[in-house]
Amino acid sequence: MTSRRDRQIGIFDSGVGGLTVMAAIAKLMPHERLVYLGDTARLPYGTKSAETVSRYAVQATRALMRFDVKLVVVACNTASAVALPVLAAALAPVPVIGVVEPGARAAVAASRNGHIAIIATEGTVRGGAYVRAVHALKPNATVVQKACPLFVALAEEGWTEGDVPERVTERYVRELFESADVKPDTLVLGCTHFPVFAKQIAKAAGSGVTLVDSAQTTATEVAQLLQAQNLKRQGAGEAPLFLATDAAERFARVGSLFLGRPIDNAQVELVDLAP
Ligand code: DGL
Repeated sequence: MTSRRDRQIGIFDSGVGGLTVMAAIAKLMPHERLVYLGDTARLPYGTKSAETVSRYAVQATRALMRFDVKLVVVACNTASAVALPVLAAALAPVPVIGVVEPGARAAVAASRNGHIAIIATEGTVRGGAYVRAVHALKPNATVVQKACPLFVALAEEGWTEGDVPERVTERYVRELFESADVKPDTLVLGCTHFPVFAKQIAKAAGSGVTLVDSAQTTATEVAQLLQAQNLKRQGAGEAPLFLATDAAERFARVGSLFLGRPIDNAQVELVDLAP
């Protein structure tokens, strides 16, 4: 039987965007065994109701539990924002880490003027989870937020450079900042798909604005939890497992962009989430 320390870390996202979180975890913890599940058949989660996202997220993370994982990382901002308590209850006693709290913590640490901006999916913005998480840490912070759904579509097309993403970014960032009384000095990329537009977003936001990507802080939180619960693995690293609910070839192609290295089609296994 595999010891608890040697078990895999399960990472879940609605699609391939959470591979940025996986890359950060793999870099910080090269000894860990990782299994990633992207619910590509049902992406996007960001435009769906909280009830639907919760139901999908429970089904997807239960599929990860079949791998006897020692920890589940919810790399999807939308699922973290609307379904984390439901997931924690469904997967107990396996610990569950989301990306919203680490992102909020990083934003509060980065902000000097206490004015913070969040960009995310419609579902994340509607639920207000980032706003609550920031206020829990810094009650007098002001927070503005904006849904930027076109970024998801553009990233899924692999269309991250050139005129179109640049103009979309300019408009989103302009409208976001126009909604603020004081210009925020910190902008949270509150969606898995947004870090691939970081260059354009930084340019549109202008100097003096720090971009926060929760991938790094989430990886640090994972490392801390493994340390605290004596769950760190020591052995040699292994190739990760990639699971998708549809379109393995597309997962490999678009996923490579987020992971930062090529993924072979043959490495992606299709899974059926039907109970
Ligand atoms: N993974 C989602 C998030 O981080 C973005 C893609 C989607 O809408 O499913 O919010």
